Amino acid sequence: MAETISILHSEEEVARRVEELGRMISEDYKGKQIHLICVLKGGVFFMCELAKRISVPVSMDFMSVSSYGDGTSSSGVVKIAKDLDEPLEGRDVLVVEDIVDSGRTLSYLLEILAKRRPNSMRLCTLLDKPDRRIRDVKVDYTGFEIEDRFVVGYGLDYAQKYRNLPYIGVLEGVE
Ligand code: IMP
Ligand code: MG
Repeated sequence: MAETISILHSEEEVARRVEELGRMISEDYKGKQIHLICVLKGGVFFMCELAKRISVPVSMDFMSVSSYGDGTSSSGVVKIAKDLDEPLEGRDVLVVEDIVDSGRTLSYLLEILAKRRPNSMRLCTLLDKPDRRIRDVKVDYTGFEIEDRFVVGYGLDYAQKYRNLPYIGVLEGVE
């Protein structure tokens, strides 16, 4: 069966939601500077668009953690492939993710980052699949809650494909 993608959240819908999130975050962090942390690679499109909608000063850093192979189910193995360039001590950190699924990646990551003593740390995710949660993760800002479907686009991939789609779509035809 061929892989097909049906649109779940259109480009316009995502843009509107990112703008809303940016406004909420700017309000919550009034008078502060936000240190955005992007979880590569999936979070990069979202973080860049979100950063443009935040009106308080921001700085950015990137890290890469993997809990996934090339398939559609979590291996449960998490490793840091690329660490942050800068320390977090005293900073108001906002971790930006593409999707929280089982929560394994994030619970591990947030534990590590908390040890670096940021002044505060919150989590912003474009997508949340609450039905799939295995580890408890507190999400502070969510773009969209979605059902247990495998999605691609806007940074999310299937075997490294489809990240560049400007919308979020459900991938079908993958066994
Ligand atoms: P978790 O550790 O199970 O929460 O997995 C988080 C990571 O799995 C995400 O950052 C994604 O890279 C990947 N992932 C989970 N669900 C999807 C999906 O529906 N599409 C694409 N990637 C996904
Ligand atoms: Mg990710």
